Amino acid sequence: MNDYSKNLLKSFSSGIKNFISVNDVNDIDGLIQKSLAYETSPYKDKSIGLNKRVGCLFLNPSMRTRLSTQIAAQNLGMEAIVFNVGAEGWALEFEEGVVMNGSSVEHVKDAAPVFGKYFDILAIRTFPSLNDRDEDYSEQYMKQFVKYAGIPVLSLESATLHPLQSLTDIITIWEAMQNLLLVTESKPKVVLTWAPHIKPLPQCVANSFAQWINAWNKVDFIITHPEGYELDTQFTNGATVTFNQQEALENADFVYVKNWSSYNEYGKILCTDETWMLNNKRLQLTNNAKVMHCLPVRRNIELSDEVLDGANSIITQQASNRVWAAQAVLSELCKPPSPKGG
Ligand code: CP
Repeated sequence: MNDYSKNLLKSFSSGIKNFISVNDVNDIDGLIQKSLAYETSPYKDKSIGLNKRVGCLFLNPSMRTRLSTQIAAQNLGMEAIVFNVGAEGWALEFEEGVVMNGSSVEHVKDAAPVFGKYFDILAIRTFPSLNDRDEDYSEQYMKQFVKYAGIPVLSLESATLHPLQSLTDIITIWEAMQNLLLVTESKPKVVLTWAPHIKPLPQCVANSFAQWINAWNKVDFIITHPEGYELDTQFTNGATVTFNQQEALENADFVYVKNWSSYNEYGKILCTDETWMLNNKRLQLTNNAKVMHCLPVRRNIELSDEVLDGANSIITQQASNRVWAAQAVLSELCKPPSPKGG
């Protein structure tokens, strides 16, 4: 660990009470350094979570988020209990004042306080419906858990954001920047490019990546997508947006590939143009860019085999960093609230 990292860690105080978006973090660099310190010494804080439990509620499927959160908790001496609410639990109701004569069996108002008694931290994954934009973007599910659980809430991906993925993505870029010795030269160019997909996917990863990269403010950030795939400007403000992928890729140092469905024509697939799939020919336009994807990836739809299996891909490193990001955040959420409310 260099002096820069040591100094950041010494003065680090995250102030994290819940972890729902970048707005819950007052020191992104400190959180990156804390994550990297866990990569170097995973068990250095193995008593922080002693006699604590994190409840991991999955309303939707997951591989990386689920396993990395469990491993991160275990590294801190904390027990992680996974509950697949979507598949195994009672169907939850989130509307206030509703007559519950439909398919939902239990109101979040009743369930969340119970989770609050069983656990010290509540971690939740819930996807958007992609039917009703206002409802999805109100983040009602996450907000209801925060309101009623009475314990810190950690997003494992919500209707509009995926903050643990974004923290991981920034850690991965930071690590690669060190390796490329880009830090003291010019700002690296990071491109988020839309890719085709056979299914309509949420905007969460793209929204969240844009929100974190903009807040971090350490890179030149360009988003490229076909017309009609504009993201919500509350997340993208500050980024350059272009419909010309080739122009965007020129001299890029990092290319983050991700599909999302339309925000304006909500949840729709508007483009199936295969030329948006990143292949080696397009990659040659870049500055030998590192290629990122949050996974799971549809091979030869979103990204070609040649890129995924090539030397520029850092997707496995990116996925492995999920553990350190989750560990840093869980460790902060274990801290008792500051007496001054800070
Ligand atoms: N990237 C990501 O969130 O992966 P999972 O859906 O497998 O958790």
